Amino acid sequence: MIGLNRTLLEKRLIEIRRHLHQYPELSREEFETTKSITGWLLERNIKIRPTILETGVFADIGGQRPGPTIAIRADIDALPITERTNLPYASRIPGKMHSCGHDFHTAAALGAAYLLKAEETELRGKIRLIFQPAEEYGAGAEKVIHDGQLDDVDAIIGLHNKPDLPVGTVGIKSGPLMAAVDRFKVVINGKGAHAALPQNGHDPITATAHVITALQTIVSRNVSPLESAVVSVTKIEGGTTWNVIPESVTIEGTVRTFDHSTRTHVKNRFYTIVEQVTNVFANKTDIQWFAGPPPLVNHSAISDLTRVAAEQYGLKVIEPAPSTAGEDFAYYLQKTPGFFAFFGTNGTEDWHHPSFTIDETALIEAAYFLYNNAKVLLQKQAELPSMESVT
Ligand code: NI
Repeated sequence: MIGLNRTLLEKRLIEIRRHLHQYPELSREEFETTKSITGWLLERNIKIRPTILETGVFADIGGQRPGPTIAIRADIDALPITERTNLPYASRIPGKMHSCGHDFHTAAALGAAYLLKAEETELRGKIRLIFQPAEEYGAGAEKVIHDGQLDDVDAIIGLHNKPDLPVGTVGIKSGPLMAAVDRFKVVINGKGAHAALPQNGHDPITATAHVITALQTIVSRNVSPLESAVVSVTKIEGGTTWNVIPESVTIEGTVRTFDHSTRTHVKNRFYTIVEQVTNVFANKTDIQWFAGPPPLVNHSAISDLTRVAAEQYGLKVIEPAPSTAGEDFAYYLQKTPGFFAFFGTNGTEDWHHPSFTIDETALIEAAYFLYNNAKVLLQKQAELPSMESVT
């Protein structure tokens, strides 16, 4: 059954996306976005679910006939970036911008919801809509899980726009797609002194220079050439003037890995190097380690189904290179099998850039992609023996 006119739906989704784009809200402050999404769902009589979260929207479609529950997830938050696109619908909020395209994801998921709602009485099973807050902050997915929105879900699907892929191309990959994200902050404490009398101190700047150099050996000497990892020191702060050896230096940075054992190995080497190198220079360290999202690992059998469904629909399917960016959808995939796809949007700049744009002709395609895959999973769930376990 064709429940909706495609051209009209496309027009509506573009309007919705442009509205979100003009009024971006940062992680954990998505109050107006939450109101808007709720309104757009209620317009079509889609049932909103209760939640303890202040932002984010959850809803259900179907359930009149027995079957599995398939979740569609979109993230809804924006970034603290000033837009430089000159688009007529550019951000109206200074310093805030949808420069990761979460407005696109939200509109695409709404499109899928509208299509599924039009066939609600025929659905065997239920669709759970998850409009997730605070993806950029990295804490949204865990809150959604804690809120119980995934408890009865059998499989979950989601996508991220991909500016370097053309419209009509989708990147589908089983196994690791996006990296685990860890963050560190290290204070290296020495002993200050007059710059002309270094023998009276324990110079933390020299110690830090050796630490940073030695950290580069983790990837080159400790990680297998067949595995991937990134260790980046991105901030260094120490000293006040030219003739004083300071008391301490602070460095910050990030580690990216694609599997649990490499992640643990890199962290262990990091601690050993920082502690032992600073020890050589009689400095003491205070290491703070902030574990972010785990690696995003797609379920193989579900990815295979997705690939077939996308090709049947007429999309070009490629196997994308994994991204060293992180994505908190990874938390869902630790709990529930599913997949996360890269959807071609033909942009000129990459994510998080002030001139980031999206080719809006991809929007209706993304809506149908989510709709088709949700339906395939409703139909095929019983045929998937390995869906029980997350691979
Ligand atoms: Ni994003």
